[in-house]
Amino acid sequence: MINLTVNGVQHALDIDPATPLLYALRNDLQLHGAKFGCGLGQCGACTVIVDGEAVFSCLMPVSAVGKRPVRTIESLGTAEHPGPLQKSFIDHQAVQCGYCIAGMIMRAQALLERNPRPTERELLAHMEPNLCRCGTHTRILAAIRKVAHLPAAGATSASSQGAVSHGGTQ
Ligand code: FES
Ligand code: FES
Repeated sequence: MINLTVNGVQHALDIDPATPLLYALRNDLQLHGAKFGCGLGQCGACTVIVDGEAVFSCLMPVSAVGKRPVRTIESLGTAEHPGPLQKSFIDHQAVQCGYCIAGMIMRAQALLERNPRPTERELLAHMEPNLCRCGTHTRILAAIRKVAHLPAAGATSASSQGAVSHGGTQ
């Protein structure tokens, strides 16, 4: 039996200890925010927060989670009452297909909880592992900057083009 604490709720799951956390979240707990993109730790669509750190849940077996709390996008807000990052993404229309967005928000959430006032350099470095194949990076970064109290002008800087800038595969 695998015990997981997800979004503040304890679960006992009768699953293989090698099951990726992403599969447990989606298939056993019906939390579908985190997405399967590559399954290889290369896109970030599956990003959730484990004990305060952004992790690729496709790579983490449930046996490796232990007692550490897991949080998914579902913990941040609802459609009626979105959390600050969710609201900023909506306000900036920072979405195209939407596949990467839950992972982007959870990675940004992990940063802002640890460091509510990151520098532009810290923001770009932190977001670098997560990819958006739709090219929505400029709006994604603008949405995060708003919550991070960073100047919006950074959205047009050449330095922003390198972060979260790769087109992922399906
Ligand atoms: S699905 Fe986990 S990194 Fe791509
Ligand atoms: S909005 Fe489509 S992958 Fe990012």
